Amino acid sequence: MSDLPSDLFGEIDPPDRRLLMGPGPSNVHPRVLRAMSATVLGQFDPEFTTTMNQVMALYRGVFQTSNKWTFMIDGTSRAAIEAALVSVLAPGETVLVVSSGRFGLLLQEIGQRCGAKVEIVEAPWGEIVPMDRIAEAARRVKPRLIACVHGDTSTTMAQPQEGLGDVAREVGALSYVDVTATLGGMDVPVDAWGTDIVTAGLQKCLGGPPGIAPITISDRAADHIFARRHVEKGIASAGDKTGSAPIIGSNYFDLAMVMDYWSEKRLNHHTEAASMLYAARECARIVLGEGLPARIDRHRIAGAAMAAGIAAMGLKVYGDRANKMFNATGVFIPDGLNGEGLRKRMREEFEIEIGTSFGPLAGKVWRIGTMAGNARRHHVAHTLMALEAALRREGFKAAGSGVDAALAIYDGAAG
Ligand SMILES: Cc1ncc(COP(=O)(O)O)c(C=O)c1O
Repeated sequence: MSDLPSDLFGEIDPPDRRLLMGPGPSNVHPRVLRAMSATVLGQFDPEFTTTMNQVMALYRGVFQTSNKWTFMIDGTSRAAIEAALVSVLAPGETVLVVSSGRFGLLLQEIGQRCGAKVEIVEAPWGEIVPMDRIAEAARRVKPRLIACVHGDTSTTMAQPQEGLGDVAREVGALSYVDVTATLGGMDVPVDAWGTDIVTAGLQKCLGGPPGIAPITISDRAADHIFARRHVEKGIASAGDKTGSAPIIGSNYFDLAMVMDYWSEKRLNHHTEAASMLYAARECARIVLGEGLPARIDRHRIAGAAMAAGIAAMGLKVYGDRANKMFNATGVFIPDGLNGEGLRKRMREEFEIEIGTSFGPLAGKVWRIGTMAGNARRHHVAHTLMALEAALRREGFKAAGSGVDAALAIYDGAAG
């Protein structure tokens, strides 16, 4: 003990005023933090299972779906992505991945790890893949699953989803969409899209912490998954139906067992992450309390104001503006400027975090998020004012006032 540094024993005390204007996580709503401190109950306590059922009902509203199978995967957003892919794809089956950024690449990688044959329909980073190219590829490769990202935060582009469900049904495939970065900030009408499996996370536009991932599954996708049901030996009972299709290649992410756990059967699969469940419940109450249309509009205006402010300062907004996500803005780092130095200054001098980039955009683009509670006029204004000052201190003089341009968008929106 005595050899351990004394600061190990200090209370955890992160800076509580830091404004998270990166591509996620965003600041957690105080109501969510309070909900997380509620008493942890046993997972089969009737009061706890009632909360589970409430969470299912609330997320049907958030996902705009009537899917019975709407629940949570314990883990960060990629836990739900992995659960979806591994539970649908048996080794040797084909997945068609729509890819134009880091999270499209992640779908490819998870598909490979499932032992699937991965086919790709792609566009360069900063663009989207037109639906007719997706349809053409789907007709050609006849996949088991078409997998796609709605808002790929690595590029700040939003891939249009209208028609994807129809394409999948036409070729006898299931469809999957990752809405981690857009749920609660852009329109995600799951039933209108006709998507079979959609997954998210709390830490972006839902205003919660990372650690639990909402998922919704259509009946036809659930039937496909239940055909792969092989309940683990130690918890199986005589009445359990075993499916004829190949066993799912993961126990933790076996959606057949996880759905049995969230059903009236309450199969004893894992121990539900109670505090995260409370967080998810409070996020949904906040989102639905505000109203989806109002919330999405708030994100749309904040994103437009941020982009207008960036442009007015003489910086260049990254990517295809027609398909830019509402809640994330890519900004080209001016030539000769130290991008990491600027981010450090924003954090240390102004308590504001903005994001860096990956892969081909590393060192070239900053990413600024306007998500959840941070998609508001004063947060956009503070960020632009700080950015202008930090840029000046790094030797770059803004061409015009970013904050005036952003406020003009708000003035126009109010009128
Ligand atoms: C679109 C998208 N998908 C998936 C993820 C992975 O999320 P997590 O880090 O919560 O696993 C992210 C995280 O940034 C994301 O933006």
